[in-house]
Order: sequence, then structure tokens, then C-alpha cells
Amino acid sequence: MKRNIVITGGAGFIGSHVVRLFVNKYPDYKIINLDKLTYAGNLANLKDIEDKPNYKFVKMDICDFDAFYKLMQEEQIDGIIHLAAESHVDRSIKDPFTFARTNVMGTLSLLQAAKLYWESLPEKYEGKRFYHISTDEVYGALQMSNPEGIEPPFTTKASSGEHHLAYGKDFFYETTKYNPHSPYSASKASSDHFVRAFHDTYGMPTIVTNCSNNYGPYQFPEKLIPLFINNIRNRKPLPVYGKGENVRDWLYVVDHARAIDTIFHEGTIAETYNIGGFNEWKNIDIIKTVINTVDRLLGRPEGADLDLITYVTDRLGHDARYAIDSSKLQKELGWEPSLQFEEGIEKTVKWYLDNEEWLDNVTSGDYQSYYENMYKGR
Ligand code: NAD
Ligand code: TYD
Repeated sequence: MKRNIVITGGAGFIGSHVVRLFVNKYPDYKIINLDKLTYAGNLANLKDIEDKPNYKFVKMDICDFDAFYKLMQEEQIDGIIHLAAESHVDRSIKDPFTFARTNVMGTLSLLQAAKLYWESLPEKYEGKRFYHISTDEVYGALQMSNPEGIEPPFTTKASSGEHHLAYGKDFFYETTKYNPHSPYSASKASSDHFVRAFHDTYGMPTIVTNCSNNYGPYQFPEKLIPLFINNIRNRKPLPVYGKGENVRDWLYVVDHARAIDTIFHEGTIAETYNIGGFNEWKNIDIIKTVINTVDRLLGRPEGADLDLITYVTDRLGHDARYAIDSSKLQKELGWEPSLQFEEGIEKTVKWYLDNEEWLDNVTSGDYQSYYENMYKGR
């Protein structure tokens, strides 16, 4: 089947993996990567597919309603996979307005343009999809809990029946009430509400998914894992917020892209799916794993870079624990992660060390001044 699909934010971290997967897997689809190329957008992420005949890049701001409406008409768009966003919590604490503009107003602008275009067609919403990519951070923060006599992480059972390690008894389910704490998660929560409102009010065929923290190649080195890999290789301090006790649930980015593919094609309209790999880690444990892996791959003595760990003032409003229950996706659509975490971290560290030029490019020049201001005083 032929389809014309816009993927927003395709030059970013997760978006570039989704674009790559769709361009390679669906030669009959036309894949349009729509991206404003902010500091986080980098077309070098897509070098391997940029010449493919079913791929096109369009530089556009998702807030530009007129331009997007025109694109929908010209390209006869029938599917939208929306990833474009401001995505870094620390930046949202310094500059919440940019997050409201892009994440809330930008999403609303796409929804309204899609509505007007699709409603103007004879078949209207038939065969159309507006798929919005969101985060588990909208659910707020989970408690760390310690069952009587058992030190976390303890083994527990997901609703799918799978056993895994956890730092608390509660999880984020699709039914968990939204309770965002950071300006980033508040802006994502707001955009999720708008997407669902367009289904409930106008009948737009929408889907929302909420995924846990991603890691892997092409992530901008302001997020924990690539920032620390880059700092370790340059023997720079590793700023650990607070005591390093916060827990995040990590998923290899290619597995997120695979889930997006499955849900875009097989997910039920108006449903929400949580995406995650039942893979909880305390920050400090992940940091030590990353240090050991970098040291081993660079031929440095094991633990040689542990001295770079530098405890710094905690992030404002730092959420204690995120943990996704992805049983619904696993049971209903048969998706599961393809990688164990140890394998994913090894691949990831290796990728950054093999792609020093990519790392140097994004951390130098114009990036450098912004980047240095961001991290000044830490
Ligand atoms: P990213 O910051 O790496 O990439 C964002 C992309 O959006 C960039 O290419 C940027 O240029 C583009 N963009 C930003 N503002 C734009 C605008 N106004 N118009 C057009 N393009 C714009 O982000 P990411 O980590 O790849 O996240 C992608 C999506 O997935 C986001 O919606 C994020 O909330 C969500 N998400 C991320 C994670 C994660 O761990 N990174 C986890 C769950 C969900
Ligand atoms: P991050 O990668 O920014 O993702 P998110 O805030 O969306 O979860 O941060 C992951 C965790 O690592 C989070 O608990 C904050 C912590 N962190 C540090 O301790 N130091 C750092 O320099 C960064 C960027 C994050």
C-alpha cells in the first residue's frame, strides 16, 4: 500500500531512528521528515538514508500552521508521526516558554491543520492516523519502596506475568492519572490532552504512546548517557545530581522505533500504549556501568575514571522514580524489546567511541557556546 507520512522531529535522536526504520522497511511509502533543526536536530543522523527515493526532508517549524497545511495538501498526507519537541528537562527549567510554544502550540497547530485538511477530503478520516509520541514523565514520580526485609531492587511480577527487578511496588499504567512536575512534562501532558481532545471532539484517528527513557546512538550529549560517555573520553567531570539515587527505566532507542512501527500500523485508534522494557536503574549504577564500559573499550584500567564522578546540586523538582508497565503493548500487539540492557549499553558506548567526529561536531562551534552556558557552574 502507498502512504504519504510526515514524521516530525525526524532529525532528532528518536525521530532519526524512526525515519531510518520506515524509509528502509517501506519502500512504497513516501516519508517526509519535517524538522526545524533546532540545536537538537542534526541531518548527519540520517546520512545513510538521505539519498533514498522515498525520503524527503522539509525544514519547517511545527508552529507554522499555514506552511504545514500547505504541505498536507501538496503531499496528500495520510499519516503523521509526531516526535518534534523540546525534550530536555534541564532546559525546560531554565526556559519553560519555549517548551509551551513548541510542545503545546506546535502540537495544536499540527492537529488543527490535519483536521482541516482531512475533513476537506471525500473519505475524511478514513485510513488516516495522527500518532503522538509522548513520555512516561507525564505520569509524575513513583515512590521508591522497600518491602519488609528486602533491599531494592527486588524481583516483582508485571501484569503480563513477566518477572523483573524493580525499586518500588507501583508502576505507570495507561490508566495512571497524569501528574507532571517539570515544565517539560507539563508541556507534554498538555499536548497529550489536546491530541485526545481532537479524537473525542472531532473524531480524529489519534493514538498516544508514553515511553520511558531512551538510550542509543545519535542522542544529543546533554542527556545522561551520551553526556557522560563524552565526558569520560575527555576526562571531564561527571555531574551526578543529588545522591545519584533517582531511578529511570531505560529502553534501547531502536526498540522504541520498532514499537512505533507496530503501533502505527496495528494499534487501535484512541488507545494509549505504554512503551518500556522493565529495565529500572539507579543513576549511580548506570553511571558506574558506563564508566567501566568506556574504560574497557578504551583500554584504560577498570575503574580508572571513577574519580570523575562529581556530586552536584540536585535538579529542581527531580522526580524520584519512573517505571513503565508495558504489558498491554506486549500482550495486545506482541511487541517486546530485542535487546538486554548489557548488550544495549555495550553497543551504545561503542557507537559513540567509533563516532567521535559526530560527537565533536555537536559539542563544538555554535553548539559549544549554548552548551557551555547550559552547564556553567555545574
Ligand atoms: P530530540 O530533542 O533529540 O529531538 C527533537 C527534534 O525535534 C529535533 O530534531 C528538533 O530539531 C525538532 N524540533 C524541535 N522543535 C521543533 C519545532 N518547533 N518544529 C519542528 N521541529 C522541531 O528529542 P528526542 O529525545 O528524539 O525525543 C523525541 C520525542 O520523543 C519527543 O516528543 C519526546 O518528548 C519523546 N520522548 C523522548 C524520550 C527520550 O528518552 N528521549 C522518551 C520518551 C518520549
Ligand atoms: P536525562 O538524561 O536528562 O533524562 P530525564 O531527565 O528525562 O530522565 O536524565 C536522566 C537522569 O540522570 C535524571 O535522573 C537526571 C540525571 N542526570 C544527572 O545526574 N546528571 C546529568 O548531568 C544529567 C544530564 C542527568
